Amino acid sequence: MTVLVTGGGGQVALALEAAASEAAAGDPPVRRIGRPEFDFDRPETIAASVAAHRPALVVNAAAYTAVDQAETDRDAARRANTDGPRLLAEICARARVPLIHISTDYVFDGSKGAPYVETDPTAPLGVYGATKLAGEQAALAVNARTAVLRTSWVISHTGKNFVRTMIGAARKTDSLRVVADQRGCPTSAADLATAILQVARRMLDGWDDRYAGVFHAAGSGETTWHGLAEAVFEDADRHGLRRPTVTPITTADGTVVAKVVGVAISIAPGKIGILGLNSALSPGSQYYLGANSSGTPSIRQMFMCPGDAGPAATNPNVPAVPSNTDSLPSE
Ligand SMILES: NC(=O)c1ccc[n+]([C@@H]2O[C@H](COP(=O)([O-])OP(=O)(O)OC[C@H]3O[C@@H](n4cnc5c(N)ncnc54)[C@H](OP(=O)(O)O)[C@@H]3O)[C@@H](O)[C@H]2O)c1
Repeated sequence: MTVLVTGGGGQVALALEAAASEAAAGDPPVRRIGRPEFDFDRPETIAASVAAHRPALVVNAAAYTAVDQAETDRDAARRANTDGPRLLAEICARARVPLIHISTDYVFDGSKGAPYVETDPTAPLGVYGATKLAGEQAALAVNARTAVLRTSWVISHTGKNFVRTMIGAARKTDSLRVVADQRGCPTSAADLATAILQVARRMLDGWDDRYAGVFHAAGSGETTWHGLAEAVFEDADRHGLRRPTVTPITTADGTVVAKVVGVAISIAPGKIGILGLNSALSPGSQYYLGANSSGTPSIRQMFMCPGDAGPAATNPNVPAVPSNTDSLPSE
C-alpha cells in the first residue's frame, strides 16, 4: 500500500515524508522518489518507477517550478509540467492507481479581483501557469482517478521558498523592495502534506468518483508578498536578527519576467469537503500563523534557528526585489 511521491527533493515531498513519519499506525508508507530515479526528462524512468514501487497511490509533486525561467525554457517546463504528468497519469490509469496531482494558482490571471474557486475559468498568463494547467487537464483526461490539488505560496523550513529567501536576504542587505500588489494564500507545506495524506487515506479506503476533479487546498488568510516579508522580519527582529527596511513596490517596478497573478485562490468548502477536508488549511499551524496582535501574519521561531534559514535560495514562485544587491533572485 505504498504512496509514491514524486519530486522527492522538493519541499512538498519532504513535508509529506515528515508528515507520514508522524502518521498513525496502519497508514500507508510514503516513498519519496526524485531525480535521477524519476525524471520527466527521461520518460522511461516514469514507468520504471511505478513498476518498481507498485504504489497504491501516487502523489505527483514534481514540477518545473522556476516561474521566470520557464518563460525562456519552455520545452523543459512543458516536459515536466504537462507531458510528464500526462504519461504518469496514463501509467497510473493502466494500473488503476489514483493520482493526486499538485497544481498552482498560476492557472489564473488574477483579474477576478477576489479569491478564486475551483469553478472559475482559468487563464494562465505565463509559461509556468500554462504548462501546469495543461498538465492538470491531461492528467484528468487520461486517468479517471485523478484529483488535482491546487495550492499557493508554499513555505517550509526546507527548500526554496519566500520565507527562507527573506531570511537569507536579511543577512546580506539593509533594504529590500518587495512587491505589494500581488496577493496570495501562504500555505504551510506541513499543512498541505497533512491534507494530502488525509486525501490519500480516504482514496485508499475506497475510490469514489466524486474524488476526481480539481480542488483548491491553500492556507486560509491572504496577504501580499510585502506583507509576508514584513511578517518574517517582525519575527526576525524579535529573535535578534537584523531587520531590513522593506519598501513596497508594484510588480511593474520589479524585474519579474513572467506575468504574475495578483490575487489569492481560495477554498470552496463544499468541494474540498468531498475529500474529507473541512475547509481551508489551517493558517495557524506550523509556519504561517495567521494574524498576530498587530494584524500581520507571524512566522514561527523555528525559521529563525541558525542553519534552518540557510542562505537565500532561488525561489521559484516569489518576486522579491532587492534594492541594493543583485545577489537575490527575482522570483
Ligand atoms: N512552491 C510553491 O510556492 C508552489 C505554489 C503552488 C503550487 N506549487 C506546486 O506544488 C508542487 C510541489 O512544489 P514544491 O514547492 O515542492 O517545488 P520544489 O521545491 O521546486 O520541488 C519540485 C521538485 O520537482 C522536481 N523536478 C523538477 N523538474 C523535474 C523533472 N523534469 N522531472 C522530475 N522531477 C523534476 C525537482 O527535482 P530536483 O530536486 O532534482 O530539482 C524538485 O524535487 C508543484 O507541482 C508546484 O507546481 C508550488
